[in-house]
Amino acid sequence: MSVIESVLNETRTFPPNGTFVKQANVSGMAAYQAMCTEAEKDYKNFWAKQANHYLLWHSPFSQVLDESDPPFYKWFNDGEINISYNCLDRHLSTQPDKTAIIFESDEGEITKATYRELHQSVCQFANALKAQNIKKGDRVVIYMPMRIEAVVAMQACARIGAIHSVVFGGFSAKSLHERITDAGAVTIITADEQVRGGKHHPLKATVDEAMSMGGANSVKSIVVYQRSGSNIPFNPDRDVWWHEITQLANIDCEPEWVNAEHPLFTLYTSGSTGKPKGVQHSSAGYLLGTMVSMQWVFDYKSSDIFWCTADVGWITGHSYVAYGPLAMGATQVIFEGVPTYPNASRFWEIIQKHKVTTFYTAPTAIRSLIKLGPDLPEKHDLSSLRLLGSVGEPINPEAWMWFYEKVGQSRCPIVDTWWQTETGSHMIAPLPGAFTLKPGSCSLPLPGIQAAIVDETGQDVEQGNGGFLVIKNPFPSQIRTLWKDPERFKKVYFPEEIDQGKYYLAGDSAYRDDDGYFWIMGRIDDVLNVSGHRLGTMEIESALVANPLVAEAAVVGKPHEIKGESVIAFVVLKGQLPQAEEASKIILELREWVAQEIGPIAKPEEIRFGENLPKTRSGKIMRRLLRTLAKDEEITQDISTLENPAILEQLKKSIK
Ligand code: PRX
Repeated sequence: MSVIESVLNETRTFPPNGTFVKQANVSGMAAYQAMCTEAEKDYKNFWAKQANHYLLWHSPFSQVLDESDPPFYKWFNDGEINISYNCLDRHLSTQPDKTAIIFESDEGEITKATYRELHQSVCQFANALKAQNIKKGDRVVIYMPMRIEAVVAMQACARIGAIHSVVFGGFSAKSLHERITDAGAVTIITADEQVRGGKHHPLKATVDEAMSMGGANSVKSIVVYQRSGSNIPFNPDRDVWWHEITQLANIDCEPEWVNAEHPLFTLYTSGSTGKPKGVQHSSAGYLLGTMVSMQWVFDYKSSDIFWCTADVGWITGHSYVAYGPLAMGATQVIFEGVPTYPNASRFWEIIQKHKVTTFYTAPTAIRSLIKLGPDLPEKHDLSSLRLLGSVGEPINPEAWMWFYEKVGQSRCPIVDTWWQTETGSHMIAPLPGAFTLKPGSCSLPLPGIQAAIVDETGQDVEQGNGGFLVIKNPFPSQIRTLWKDPERFKKVYFPEEIDQGKYYLAGDSAYRDDDGYFWIMGRIDDVLNVSGHRLGTMEIESALVANPLVAEAAVVGKPHEIKGESVIAFVVLKGQLPQAEEASKIILELREWVAQEIGPIAKPEEIRFGENLPKTRSGKIMRRLLRTLAKDEEITQDISTLENPAILEQLKKSIK
């Protein structure tokens, strides 16, 4: 591992400004260090204190952490809680008329919901679900557009103790089917259509297609929210309208008190093998992680207008749309559309119009906005902003500088937050009133998080050297298991080789600089990060090989100006090597095929054909060579173990 070197040599630093420090929730480095020291001395007591401070317990916990069966850790296990109560009811006596959500539709229509109204909608929908016979522990798949109703659906599940599994609206019928059957869902909540960037996408029809693939016998009903009013197929024996079932429902719904460890949700994410993993989160520990990070990293103030642009189909939309901001009593913006519709000023207009103070988005969005209109932010009044955030992939220093200067007008700190679906909430991120910022570094771990860089045996590497990013201590918001697959959970995240399975292995490589700052270098497994979304190379390869024309396929990532990484596929067809015109046709067909099999985000940017793939004598595909070819670079690596060197010439050629 010591040979892993970073090519990044970024030396700019940005100390926090005095005005920000003065008002910060964690003010100055000494305050941060004091919290870290407290957590290091007794991390169980540290987390117990936070759990009692932030969460409202129906019945208190007596044991902080149960470590009797590692890595199946249990936090606050005998405490009873309800997450929807913690997000909504708690505000009814203090701020019922505060706006909880400012919703802006794709067309620009604005709807607001106060905490009282949101509470009522959630209770009504929770009662409607109960009337559909949905009970505690049942799984509910949510396949919805990014609207208030998506949050209502999630909160309603939490209220009755049902386990939601949100599937991103861009996933295909096949991906949806895989998730429905793996989860054993009893209900699917969807909409007639999704409207984004002026385009209509058929959600209900996609659910129907997934259902027609068979095996989803657990599904008893499909709840359909009417978004566009378009004509859709409707099966009265199985389908119900959202508005009809809620109309009849009572507005009071006593929360279902659940054990702190009761699964709040599962969320599927890509791993290095073909099948997506159902990441299972707890109730209390998960919510606690979202709340402390709102407080520490987003420096949350009750006067904030918080805007996280992530879709609820991803973990960011769970933690920093559906749960964290509500639990803190924030006013937040939810936006249905895309940053570039009807033009590249949409984000800046939203910030200006709703006076957004905290803006949390992804590097891929930042890069596309730079490309489409580098000067557009200056044409808007962005003076309400006080804090910016980035998530999903490393932010390149140039994009960081533009975000800082053009959007934040050199006034707003940027919190570059490193975390994952599996960690539930921020792990390594600046505390903006304490840390000096370095463009491209996610900085230092949050108090209570023992992040470190180790080698393949679990030994700490020397500062400055690259290695595996691990978290040494259990923490409340961490993944509990993989749905129905505890063995895979242990193997992937707590591998024996790394200090006998004691550490959580994140799957990223990283190094620390002289100040101890973390710099994320990339994944250590076969996972690509395309526009901040995780895609398993195996998943895409399996999809390609499922096409009748394809004999073999290998997928690698290639750096991409906007998406961060793009998908490049090397394909061996069953027939002859195709000539130019035919090849272009097959490329189109295969790209469409992958979109159908997984979703448009997984479409290969480029497909190259060869009579074979570069393999070692034992038949192993030499991916590092493919990565070099994908980048159109000369191969300088050792190819003496390569069985078929001539193949490299064929694969060099790219047909556009
Ligand atoms: O590789 C890291 C990258 O995204 C992965 C997690 O992806 P996902 O579970 O989809 O969650 C994304 C949103 C939390 C990580 O293993 N990643 C995420 N944030 C950053 C990052 N890489 C560098 N810097 C970040 N701030």
